[in-house]
Amino acid sequence: MDAAFCKKNGENSSGSQTHTSPGPRSRRSSIYIEEKPTKGDVTSVIFSLKEEVGALAKALRLFEEKGVNLTHIESRPSRTNKGEYEFYIDLDCKNVPSVEEILLSLRQEISGTVYELTRDKIKDTVPWFPRTIQDLDRFANQILSYGSELEADHPGFTDPLYRARRKEFADIAFNYRHGDVIPMVEYTEDEKDTWGTVFRELKTLYPTHACQEHNRVFPLLEQYCGYREHNIPQLEDISNFLQSCTGFRLRPVAGLLSSRDFLAGLAFRVFHSTQYIRHGSKPMYTPEPDVCHELLGHVPLFANPNFAQFSQEIGLASLGAPDEYIEKLATVYWFTVEFGLCKQNDEIKAYGAGLLSSFGELQYCLTDQPEHRPFNPEKMACQKYPITSFQPVYFIAETFEDAKEKVRKFAAMIPRPFSVRYNSYTQSIEVLDNIEQLKNLVDNIGSEMGILYHALKKLE
Ligand SMILES: [Fe+2]
Repeated sequence: MDAAFCKKNGENSSGSQTHTSPGPRSRRSSIYIEEKPTKGDVTSVIFSLKEEVGALAKALRLFEEKGVNLTHIESRPSRTNKGEYEFYIDLDCKNVPSVEEILLSLRQEISGTVYELTRDKIKDTVPWFPRTIQDLDRFANQILSYGSELEADHPGFTDPLYRARRKEFADIAFNYRHGDVIPMVEYTEDEKDTWGTVFRELKTLYPTHACQEHNRVFPLLEQYCGYREHNIPQLEDISNFLQSCTGFRLRPVAGLLSSRDFLAGLAFRVFHSTQYIRHGSKPMYTPEPDVCHELLGHVPLFANPNFAQFSQEIGLASLGAPDEYIEKLATVYWFTVEFGLCKQNDEIKAYGAGLLSSFGELQYCLTDQPEHRPFNPEKMACQKYPITSFQPVYFIAETFEDAKEKVRKFAAMIPRPFSVRYNSYTQSIEVLDNIEQLKNLVDNIGSEMGILYHALKKLE
């Protein structure tokens, strides 16, 4: 059984891990301010402070110096930041020339961190998400467990050489930063043998069991990326190949990521890939994603433009989504990108990476033993699934196009106070929460429509 996605992205409850604060600034600071103009001359302010002697006095001294009366003050332990207290105060601003100036001074006095009023409201409720492709570097410090930490039932648990090797791979990934060349790895003969066994067996099934998209790309990977029985391909070569096909790229990952972080990578067309290989004692089994799973299961599909866009849309939908929706999206991901089936020429074929990298399950999934259900993201999102055995239920997509449209509709129901768009020129996420952004988008669409119009005219 290939439990490829299970710990990395699937059931792991850490998918609901939240980042309630809005990014680097808040990480440095333990303080935030939220202000809201209230009735008459009273302005209400909420700020939070670390539990330190004199911290509150320092903040309140400022009001005294500015001659501002506090008409109300409350405190409570922070619900979002452990070890901090929140203070709600009402300021009597009758004789105050500039409330903004005072709040600016307060921000400078207590942390130097400044949030705008409207943005604070969003940021306070929306979990942090990466805005630029470089922000993905932060995930290296947020892994849930390091790649060399193995469970007691892992085939390599009692093998010190294997564990040392796993640490080498984890260190490569931990030190990787966006823009670096992914270090080439000299795989051992034993590792190549393990790969060779998996490669040989699976290749016999692909013509009859894999979807057309997979089978179309596979020969290209053999031609350009060193996919061979006695060679483990290098992530850097594959990443370059994918970028030329769809803009997808690989980056090595040092351990388990939360679902939120993993899905966020997809929004940038970045796939976090392991680089180590399963233990040689059980070449047809891995309790976690490994290089066989990533390279044989995932990579071929990421070279397909439709599938790449489908994957990216799941990623974009995850940005800033509430925890419960992250879990739902991760489950949709499980039943599509990991364990998806689709119809092709009146036959059912596999496109999920967990299937395409598992000799046993790739055969089983197309038999009448499991249940085959129609593609329905709302139902998929709530479907329970096992992580240590073959799936009892698979969902069958009519086409990638159809699946994309349905997931898009599902994603539209996620409660977020903004929409997002990936700007491939700047490799950043645009948050479409103001008129200026929308104007830019309209300009871009107008320009694209112009190109389409002229192209159509020339075809006439
Ligand atoms: Fe996977």
